[in-house]
Amino acid sequence: MKIKVNKDKCLGCATCCFLAPQTFAMGEDGKAQVKNPQGDDEEKILQAVQACPCLAIEIEEEQSL
Ligand code: F3S
Repeated sequence: MKIKVNKDKCLGCATCCFLAPQTFAMGEDGKAQVKNPQGDDEEKILQAVQACPCLAIEIEEEQSL
């Protein structure tokens, strides 16, 4: 699973950092960034994705060919 924060959408509410603190961190620009894509359990990361009020966290499922 690949995750990224769309900084154009992120408002810096930090909910993601609260729910999955090993995965997301606030950057100096006041927006979230991914510090370790495998930092937390997938369940926590998905919670953070759903909890973001701006839908700024994007997930790309890795294709297994
Ligand atoms: Fe930004 Fe959403 Fe996190 S607004 S700080 S990506 S919860």
